[in-house]
Amino acid sequence: MMKLLLPALVTAASAAVIAPRDVVFEARNFTASCLPPGSTTCFYSLNLFMPGTMDTQGYNCTASGTGGPGLLPEIQGGTCLPSSRTFDVLRNETGMTVIASVQVSRLSYTRGAHFIPSEQIQLTHGDDPLEVYTAYVGPKDFPLERIW
Ligand SMILES: *[C@@H]1O[C@H](CO)[C@@H](O)[C@H](O)[C@H]1NC(C)=O
Ligand SMILES: *[C@@H]1O[C@H](CO)[C@@H](O)[C@H](O)[C@H]1NC(C)=O
Ligand SMILES: *[C@@H]1O[C@H](CO)[C@@H](O)[C@H](O)[C@H]1NC(C)=O
Repeated sequence: MMKLLLPALVTAASAAVIAPRDVVFEARNFTASCLPPGSTTCFYSLNLFMPGTMDTQGYNCTASGTGGPGLLPEIQGGTCLPSSRTFDVLRNETGMTVIASVQVSRLSYTRGAHFIPSEQIQLTHGDDPLEVYTAYVGPKDFPLERIW
C-alpha cells in the first residue's frame, strides 16, 4: 500500500513547489473607506471566495476601525459570518497586507495574503469636491496567496 501511495505524494509535493502561485482565497468587491468625509471611523467590506472548493458564493466580510487622513486602520479578526473565515489587515511602511484565514482542521489553518501598496490608499473626493475622505482605490478583486 505504501509503495502505491508514495509516488502520488511525491508528485503532489513537487507540483506544490513548482506552482508559481498558490491562490487560496479570492477577494471580490473589496472596499475600504472612512465615511462620511472627516470621519475617522473606517469600514472594510469584501467577499471572500475559496477557488477550487465547493464554495460558489463566497462569504461577505466586514470590519471597522479608527483610521486617519490618508490612513486606513489595522484590523484584527474581521468576520465573514456565518462562516468561520476571518481577515486581518496589517500595516507596514510601504502599505497594508490583507490576510484571510480559515480553520481547516483542529490544529491547522489555511491563510492567504495580498499586499496593498500605499499608492492604492488615497484621499478621495466625494460628490462635494470640498469633502475628502480616505479610501482604497486599487482593484476591487484580487487573489490572496498561501502563506505559512
Ligand atoms: C459585487 O457587487 C455587485 C454590485 O453590488 C454585486 O452585484 C455582486 O453580487 C457582488 N459580488 C459578490 C461576489 O459579492
Ligand atoms: C454579498 O453581498 C452582495 C452585495 O454586495 C450580495 O449581492 C450577495 O448576495 C452577498 N452574498 C452573500 C453570500 O451573502
Ligand atoms: C511590507 O509588507 C510587504 C508584504 O509582506 C513586503 O513586500 C514589503 O517589503 C514590506 N515593506 C517593508 C518596508 O517592510
